[in-house]
Amino acid sequence: MEKITCDVVVMGSGLAGLRAAIEAARTGRGKISVAVVTKTQPMRSHSVSAEGGTAAVLYPEEGDSLESHMWDTVKGSDFLSDQDVVERFVKLAPQEIIQLEHWGMPWARRKDGKIAQRSFGGQSYPRACYAEDKVGFYEMSTLYDTCLKFDEIMFYDEWFVTKILKNKGRFAGVVAMSLKNSELAVFNAKAGILATGGAGRIYSFATFGHSSTPDGYAVALRAGVPLRDMEFVQFHPTGLVPSGILITEAARGEGGILRNKNGERFMEKYAPKAKDLAPRDIVSRSMITEMREGRGFKTEEGEDYLLLDLTAIDPEVIKKRLTSIREICLRNAGIDPINEPIPVRPVAHYYMGGVDANIDGATELPGLWAAGEVACTSMNGANRLGSNSTTECLVWGRITGEMAARFAMSNQAVEPAKSDIEEEEKRIYDKLLGPAPRANPYNIKKEIQTLMERHFHIYREAGSMEEGLRMLRVLRQQAELGVEDKSRYYNTNLMNVLEIDGMFDVCEVIGVAALHRQESRGAHARVDYPKRDDENWLHHILVYKTADGLEFAYKPVVVTKYKPAERTY
Ligand code: FUM
Repeated sequence: MEKITCDVVVMGSGLAGLRAAIEAARTGRGKISVAVVTKTQPMRSHSVSAEGGTAAVLYPEEGDSLESHMWDTVKGSDFLSDQDVVERFVKLAPQEIIQLEHWGMPWARRKDGKIAQRSFGGQSYPRACYAEDKVGFYEMSTLYDTCLKFDEIMFYDEWFVTKILKNKGRFAGVVAMSLKNSELAVFNAKAGILATGGAGRIYSFATFGHSSTPDGYAVALRAGVPLRDMEFVQFHPTGLVPSGILITEAARGEGGILRNKNGERFMEKYAPKAKDLAPRDIVSRSMITEMREGRGFKTEEGEDYLLLDLTAIDPEVIKKRLTSIREICLRNAGIDPINEPIPVRPVAHYYMGGVDANIDGATELPGLWAAGEVACTSMNGANRLGSNSTTECLVWGRITGEMAARFAMSNQAVEPAKSDIEEEEKRIYDKLLGPAPRANPYNIKKEIQTLMERHFHIYREAGSMEEGLRMLRVLRQQAELGVEDKSRYYNTNLMNVLEIDGMFDVCEVIGVAALHRQESRGAHARVDYPKRDDENWLHHILVYKTADGLEFAYKPVVVTKYKPAERTY
């Protein structure tokens, strides 16, 4: 097997990965090599589709404050976020906005020439910086262009990381497969940064691109690194029906209103002050209630939906600031939102949980860091606020990039164990590329997604979750994953099967964690335990994969400034 040696290997090329690569290269300028290993091509990473905004306090002199951003985030998290982490986040956020500006980011401007900001749900001040509604695209272009200026950074596009290697209790690199010819290679690195994005398409109605799958979570879990708070899955209120394409929250930030079939602005009832700009967990639950109580619409295929009404917004604002929303609606639904309301319903959008990481993004495995959606530093607790995620990617991309580079410059590389490499070769070439599978992997993938939609959606209940877990385990036992196509060249079936294998692992962790947490908090709404229970559940749940199965551990929530309180909007 080929061996590629580098100082830092970054897994993933979205916002967190690119930002981490730049910071690692800057920290070790002239002395370091950084490999970015990505299963796509950087500009096809899912971060490109981020739409509405990146939160930061820019104008304290005008009334915003770090204190307010911190409070909004902690309250939004239903008090499960670690407050030391949130404090660090809000302090570093403005620096990242300015840093991007210096690298050429075309932020929208106010009349006075300063960076413009807009409103987002649960943020008590308009603090989301934006560039039309294509924030991710412009941020990614800015970061990718910047990466290309560093000789230290090498891109390995279309390489799929299949395994994290360790030896002597330390990170030793990764095994990755080139999609071009299905060859495996060892990236022997002194430090690694996981930045592979969220668990993505484990639900069928999702805002994620089809390439977003939980690969990063799965390789970490198999390497003995725990996942934290995986029960918290965010459903964004406004997925376009029937495709699930994101209709940005900025549409409500600019004045859009959710209506039921009686034309009522129903959010007035559920969140009298914040209304349509309440946090996502609250808006999504309210929408489900409206539809269940018969105040929704049905498509010809029987799908439920409500309406997002932008018709009161100045058409020029829609054309200038919600450019892609208009285009998405015209192309995918034949609707011009200037004149007609948009059919929407809650859609899987983000995972608050992830690879357990401390305030620096360091995981339990020395030499391995995690940043962005794949990581759980507990910044977002039980519910993330809109526009905090792109900022989180930038902030922890920067932190982990610097930390990993410093570690790499002061430590020798560890050789991976030969037996681990051989084991991985066998798994891929003998098992997956071996005998023909008994079932079509794409049917299996669909079954996983259907099961997650049915048993682990917004509202959860023990009996249904137990049944979901049972079905998942049976499906896995019977699946015998493999590919019919034995070709080595651009065998995307093989990559998809590797993704599906990871989906099994991660869905099971979500399932057991959701069943375990016997309370309702943030995005985790238990019908059988409808109240938040701070006495018993003000802690994080960690799940380890061991030889004996999945095991739980716990971490306390770090409370510094704000005691848990009732959450009203
Ligand atoms: O609605 C949106 O534009 C999504 C933003 C986010 O998830 O932060």
